[in-house]
Amino acid sequence: MEQMNRLIDTFLNQLYRRLECCDTSDSDVLDEISRILQVWPEVPSSGKLPSPSESTVTKYLDAALKLGHTGAESSLIAAIRPLAPFLDWTFGYPPHPLYPNLESQVTFTQFIGPEDLGTADHLLMGLTLLAPKTYYPPHVHPANELYIPLGGTGIWTKGSEEPLPREPGSVILHPSGVIHTTESREDPVLALYIWRGDLITSSKFITDQEKLTE
Ligand SMILES: [Fe+2]
Repeated sequence: MEQMNRLIDTFLNQLYRRLECCDTSDSDVLDEISRILQVWPEVPSSGKLPSPSESTVTKYLDAALKLGHTGAESSLIAAIRPLAPFLDWTFGYPPHPLYPNLESQVTFTQFIGPEDLGTADHLLMGLTLLAPKTYYPPHVHPANELYIPLGGTGIWTKGSEEPLPREPGSVILHPSGVIHTTESREDPVLALYIWRGDLITSSKFITDQEKLTE
């Protein structure tokens, strides 16, 4: 438990520094970061014992960490790497009608939250990992979501905006209720997410039909 506390503490300190020094002119991103820092966990501590589990996608984790190893987020990668053996990777969505193999292409691990390895009452934090050549189709949730790409360059879309390649060094904001997607190309994509707001309601897929009736 003591080792876990140290790892979580190091990770949170590194992430706090990263957010404090965020180099962007996007006022929405800066506003979200300010709100995240206002509810930052005061005494990072381990909330539960690790129960590590892998998915068929985690075979790409090492490659994704290596992609980011010397990049803009190398300090975050260094803080996350020692946590890797303790992480519990899951998919969490019901099967998608158009993409039935998603569970073997996309995986998530949440390790900071009200009942996670590191305790935080008002934030969720975790990692999203996409296998190469994977489309994470349109989805939406009421929480505000900040993404920091760590390894690999994904193609990200939100709302009606044009798809944009985003690499480590950038920060992506998905405001509450805005539909978004991520796609990987030849490399896997690893990104850190932070949820703030409604932490209870899960993300759900949106089909084209649902988009039309919105
Ligand atoms: Fe999301």
